[in-house]
Amino acid sequence: MKALVLAGGSGTRMRPITHSSAKQLVPVAGKPVLFHVLEAIAEAGLTDVGVIVGDTAQEIAAAVGDGSRFGLHLTYIHQERPLGLAHAVSVARDFLAEDDFVMYLGDNFLLGGITKFVEDFRNYGNRDAQILLSRVADPTAFGVAELDETGHVIGLEEKPLRPKSDLALAGIYLFTPAVHEAVESIRPSARGELEITDAIQWLIDQGRRVHSSVISGFWKDTGNVADMLEANRSVLETVEAVQEGYVDEASTVIGRVRIQAGAKVVASRVVGPAFIGPGTEIIGSSVGPYISVSEHCRIEDSEISSSIVLRGCVLTGVRRIEESLIGRDVEVEAFPRPSAVHRLVLGDNSRVQIPS
Ligand code: TTP
Repeated sequence: MKALVLAGGSGTRMRPITHSSAKQLVPVAGKPVLFHVLEAIAEAGLTDVGVIVGDTAQEIAAAVGDGSRFGLHLTYIHQERPLGLAHAVSVARDFLAEDDFVMYLGDNFLLGGITKFVEDFRNYGNRDAQILLSRVADPTAFGVAELDETGHVIGLEEKPLRPKSDLALAGIYLFTPAVHEAVESIRPSARGELEITDAIQWLIDQGRRVHSSVISGFWKDTGNVADMLEANRSVLETVEAVQEGYVDEASTVIGRVRIQAGAKVVASRVVGPAFIGPGTEIIGSSVGPYISVSEHCRIEDSEISSSIVLRGCVLTGVRRIEESLIGRDVEVEAFPRPSAVHRLVLGDNSRVQIPS
């Protein structure tokens, strides 16, 4: 059995972060979402992994390499344009050959891994495909499945106005080679993409056995900022307290806080769960809970919680920041004297909320 990880796409919902980097590499609790995905695949005992890449191919390859540090053998597969999840399967046709495979969207996060689902799929052997479903509050934003009483899928609908269930399709699928015929048989949707939901629906219409498993643990498609922050909160809940960096006597560290080697906490209060990356300095500040600060940042005389801060950022004299995703090498500083003006240098598609 092989794995296919989708790490291309256009990432429009994550702009401006995706103007300069891949959304799959945004760290959740200090680790890129894509690394969580690759670790889950390795844990399930799979080693042969195809990685679909697009415009951000170089950055993904630089971060992930040949996969050996995850115990995986990676094959990069270039997708010229993000023409849909089913298109990605067709681009990977040669790599997948006649093997069964798990397809995992590189921006999806599933707490607890995929081992059980992979084992079930292997053991039962009488399924053409298996999908993972998660109960969601607002199914209208997802692909939604309708099941019969035995758990077999009888229909799928993409972003339905009147959903037939609250079971959303999670970004992890198990397929036999039967999916290739389905992918070849479908046409692009109204948005011009070859949809994997259409391919699965095709299998159902042909009388193929499409099984479903309902996930009870935390699953998140991190395609937008709010979901990314929620995934961050959830993963931070599982972080163990580790103090490899320096914390001075004037500082207070409360709860499960991971302070990486080379980090410095001086005259500050850090409330867990929190992740402080290597080489980052927290000075005279209050950070957390639910904060992930990447490497080589400086947070001085500031307050921040429930946020992700990417590497090389400097925050000085700002309070209070909440529910924010701050890209690489960003500087946010207080204006030196009382003033009613804001000075901004923002990239395309940035979003800022300021007190009015
Ligand atoms: P999506 O989040 O559905 O699509 P997207 O990345 O284009 O984002 P947006 O809707 O904000 O523009 O993609 C899910 C995952 O699959 C993500 O990791 C990107 C990847 N993907 C591909 O590799 N190829 C594709 O053709 C598409 C559509 C997505």
